[in-house]
Amino acid sequence: MSKLQEMPKIETVGVIGAGTIGASWTALFAASGYSIDVYDPSPEGEAYVRDYVETAWPSLEKLGMVKVSEPDLSFFTSPADAVKRAQFVQESVPEQLPVKHEIYRQIEPALAPEAVVATSASGLLVRDMQKGWADPSRFILAHPFNPPHLIPLVELLGNEQTADGVLDIAQAFFEGCGKVTIRVNKEVPGHVSNRLQAALWREAIHLVMEGVASVEDVDKAVWAGPGLRWSVMGPHMLFSLASGGHGIGTFCERYGDSFHTWWDTMGTPKITEEVGEALAAGIADAEKGRDFASIAGERDAKIIGALQAFQKVDKDLG
Ligand SMILES: NC(=O)c1ccc[n+]([C@@H]2O[C@H](COP(=O)([O-])OP(=O)(O)OC[C@H]3O[C@@H](n4cnc5c(N)ncnc54)[C@H](O)[C@@H]3O)[C@@H](O)[C@H]2O)c1
Repeated sequence: MSKLQEMPKIETVGVIGAGTIGASWTALFAASGYSIDVYDPSPEGEAYVRDYVETAWPSLEKLGMVKVSEPDLSFFTSPADAVKRAQFVQESVPEQLPVKHEIYRQIEPALAPEAVVATSASGLLVRDMQKGWADPSRFILAHPFNPPHLIPLVELLGNEQTADGVLDIAQAFFEGCGKVTIRVNKEVPGHVSNRLQAALWREAIHLVMEGVASVEDVDKAVWAGPGLRWSVMGPHMLFSLASGGHGIGTFCERYGDSFHTWWDTMGTPKITEEVGEALAAGIADAEKGRDFASIAGERDAKIIGALQAFQKVDKDLG
């Protein structure tokens, strides 16, 4: 029997912790046609999630990601009740190990034997979170980028304690929801994408603090230059293309020494109070009087527009 034929049918998804990330996951999973069972201890939790899903729905419709006429959401006052019916559970509770362990202790006895539980954790290590489980074999990492209903990437990671096939189930589930998955084969703090982000931000801070360019211009140097290319291909493929058809090996030969010189002069700043103040002053200039909602609105509209354009190009390219 092939792996795909062995895939359990997922009808209900449990969402445990429904703040910034959990509410966005709820919108995506509901639009994908699943029944969603939500638990969040906040008294405002249900209203926040319903409001978030209502706001996200038109964006998901624009992207052709809504497969049902309306979201099927149920809210529970205990985490165990919210996972009972679920074949897949996404946990997005606060990023603190004792909080994660306590929620795993509460949900584990209520889970169906075939259920897969994924954590959204950004920085905690899976091997530390596994200590909260009597049997961690169906617990994995599925790390999104905020907001998960719009940004395609999900980083998947299990280890030697993970049962065979569990990552395949998660991959099929997320890809069925329109996400792009990667496998993280070895655990490192920050997984892959946050480390790459952190590497770029470290040098961006260094350039600002050395007076090489303003906060606004360093940001422009990313979004108007390499950032645009990175949204369609990664750095290795782009550098391979930059060799004019001779491949990444030729690129390494031609430009390796230049990169070594740049790397040797890069900074290793710490995020001190002085850095925080300098960045805040730079952002205040870059905002040009616009408020949070208008800047966040511009970001989301451009992300949705870019995703729509990519969908059209993919279709045209077949
Ligand atoms: N915010 C991001 O950009 C981002 C991106 C990727 C992953 N993550 C990860 O997602 C997880 C959640 O982060 P967030 O930004 O949504 O945080 P958040 O503070 O916005 O939401 C956390 C939610 O968990 C609820 N909560 C608190 N204690 C709980 C408990 N004991 N049981 C269940 N729910 C509880 C809170 O009421 C809140 O609604 C973290 O592990 C974080 O690292 C965050």
